[in-house]
Amino acid sequence: GAAELGPYRHYMQKEIFEQPRALGDTLEGVTAIMPELFGDKAFGVFKQIDNVLILACGTSYYAGMTAKYWIESIAKIPVNVEIASEYRYRDSVPNPSSLVVTISQSGETADTLAALKHARSLGMPHSLTICNVSTSAMVRECELAYITRAGVEVGVASTKAFTTQLAALFLLALTLAQSKGRLSDEQEAEHIKALRHLPVAISAVLALEPQIIAWSEEFARKENALFLGRGMHYPIALEGALKLKEISYIHAEAYPAGELKHGPLALVTKEMPVVTVAPKDGLIEKLKSNMQEVRARGGELYVFADADSRITPSEGVHVIRLPEHYGMLSPILHTVPLQLLAYHTALARGTDVDKPRNLAKSVTVE
Ligand code: G6P
Repeated sequence: GAAELGPYRHYMQKEIFEQPRALGDTLEGVTAIMPELFGDKAFGVFKQIDNVLILACGTSYYAGMTAKYWIESIAKIPVNVEIASEYRYRDSVPNPSSLVVTISQSGETADTLAALKHARSLGMPHSLTICNVSTSAMVRECELAYITRAGVEVGVASTKAFTTQLAALFLLALTLAQSKGRLSDEQEAEHIKALRHLPVAISAVLALEPQIIAWSEEFARKENALFLGRGMHYPIALEGALKLKEISYIHAEAYPAGELKHGPLALVTKEMPVVTVAPKDGLIEKLKSNMQEVRARGGELYVFADADSRITPSEGVHVIRLPEHYGMLSPILHTVPLQLLAYHTALARGTDVDKPRNLAKSVTVE
């Protein structure tokens, strides 16, 4: 009811603004990397496994896609990420030394539960879930678990559950790296410091809301939008597009920016806003030339840069700068303005933000 919403108009907005608290709670007490964070048996399991199979649906699947970049980069362990509803029905080649990781806000998604059971039936005994509900079927079914502490999420479009999943998955990448002897004490200390800074960093990103509201007024008049990202920000672009689709009903697609020339460039006109996730990373110069390709076709760019990206606004290039440069944790920070953009665009279009048409919070039937 209204009392619970406090100063917010919708649960989604409240949940977006709860993210500093949700991340702080999810990471509470994490002052060092140790397998026990994932359960009593984690030490032995992490020693045995040599690859990861991630199974999830929807927003949780995009968290899994992001985790692939982190785990392969930090722990140097191969990762496959599969949409649960596809994995359960296709012929695949099981690897008994896989760690099967399910990601689920609710812990009750039928397809993800079925995919986990399918993996087990194929001879993959080791499982871990990143889940927001400690009493859920998923937690009961898995050998290991990390419980995110986002708190109850009411808005159908997932927000705080996603960023807390990402934090837990980053911890998993660090822990797997440590188990394989690939994490120095200095690296561990540096990553923990960055993780513990997240609540403060997110609060500073939330303060960009007025600038995002100004953009949302433009977006509310559009029927299509394209989201671009590269590397570990490609899944964040996918999540940004999904948020916009889910609640504003604007058709949105996401592409890894290097793929523009293989199709989506044909869609670009001045009617096509192109949202670009553009933190300073190893691909920023390549991303800038992708942005040129968009501008040359008259596309309007809406760029989320960071403190180090060196992108200046110009005609057709709108820039919102996140206040810091966040390194490996940048996907978590860059998610937040995309959530706010979707929220305010939906608000401007007058849709039912917390209960979008045709969608359910938790899909417990196939
Ligand atoms: C539904 C929700 C999404 C969610 C997906 C997976 O489609 O509307 O927000 O990402 O299910 O849910 P889970 O609880 O397994 O993360």
